[in-house]
Amino acid sequence: MITVETLAELRAHIAQARSEGKRIGFVPTMGNLHNGHMTLIDEAAEQCDFVVASIFVNPLQFNDKDDLKRYPRTLSADQMHLKDHDCDLLFFPDVDEVYPNGQAQQTLVGVPEVSQGLCGGSRPGHFDGVSTVVSKLFNMVQPDAAFFGEKDFQQLAVIRRMVADLCMPIEIIGVPTCREPDGLAMSSRNGYLSAEERVQAVHLSKALITLKEQIRAGSSDFPMLIEEAKAYLNEHGLTPDYVEICRVDTLKQASTDDKELVILGAVFLGSARLIDNFTLTLS
Ligand code: PAJ
Repeated sequence: MITVETLAELRAHIAQARSEGKRIGFVPTMGNLHNGHMTLIDEAAEQCDFVVASIFVNPLQFNDKDDLKRYPRTLSADQMHLKDHDCDLLFFPDVDEVYPNGQAQQTLVGVPEVSQGLCGGSRPGHFDGVSTVVSKLFNMVQPDAAFFGEKDFQQLAVIRRMVADLCMPIEIIGVPTCREPDGLAMSSRNGYLSAEERVQAVHLSKALITLKEQIRAGSSDFPMLIEEAKAYLNEHGLTPDYVEICRVDTLKQASTDDKELVILGAVFLGSARLIDNFTLTLS
C-alpha cells in the first residue's frame, strides 16, 4: 500500500489506475480505524479494482474544538490495518492541503432537509463540514464508487442527497453497522469510555431494539414509545440527546402510516457522545 500526502501525488496514482481501466473505490475516514471501517474497505475491495482510503480529521465538521483536539490519531496502526485489508492507496493530507485558502474562506456545500434535525440539530454546522469535505475528497479522488457506514445513517443520507443534487457520477454504497459482541456499534469514540461506561453503553442499542420490537408488534403511540426509551436510557446512566422514529427516505418524523422506518438515537455517556440506529420495514 502506498501512502501519499499531496493532491499531486494522489492524482498521479489515480491517473495510472484509470489508464489501466481499474474501477476505483473510495473509503473516506478520520482514522483511528476499527473493524467497522474495515468492513467498508473489504466491501470496496470486493467491488472495485483499486481501493483508496483517506484519513483526514476534518476541522470543518467539528463544532466543538476540544472534540477536534482530542480526536485519536493513530496513523501507523491504521496503515497496518489498511495493508492487511488490501487497500491500495492511503491519502493522508494535512489541513493546508485540503483547505489551501483557509477554512474561513472555503466554498461550502450545504445539503438541505436531511441535514436538519437529529445530529444536525445537536451539532450546528456539522453536516455542512461533512458535505463540503466529502465533495472535495470526491473531486480529488474521482472514484467510481464510495463506501459509507449505515452507522452514521444521517451522514449517509446527506451524502446520497448531495451526490444526486450535484449530479456527481459516483455510486454511493451503504454498508451495515459493525457491532461489538454485546451489540454496541463500533466507533472511534468508544475509546473515550471508562470500563464502567463501556458496560453501560450497550443500553443504547438495547433501547433502540426494544423500540423496534414494540413497533413491529403493533405499538403505534410513537411519542410514548420515545419517552419510554428515553426513561430507560436515563435509568441506565445514559443521557439521551435524541431518540426519534423517522421515515428512511426523508428522515422526517414518521407517522403511523409509514412503512419504511429508521429508529435513531444519540446519547451522552461520560465524555463521549454515541449514536446508533436500526431500520424497520412494516408490511
Ligand atoms: P469516520 O467516523 O472515521 O467514519 C468513516 C466511515 O466509517 C463512515 O462512513 C462511517 O459511517 C463508517 N463507520 C464508522 N463506524 C462504523 C461501524 N461500526 N460499522 C460500519 N461503518 C462504520 O464519518 C466520518 O469519519 C467522517 O464524517 C467522514 C465521512 C470521513 C468525513 O470527514
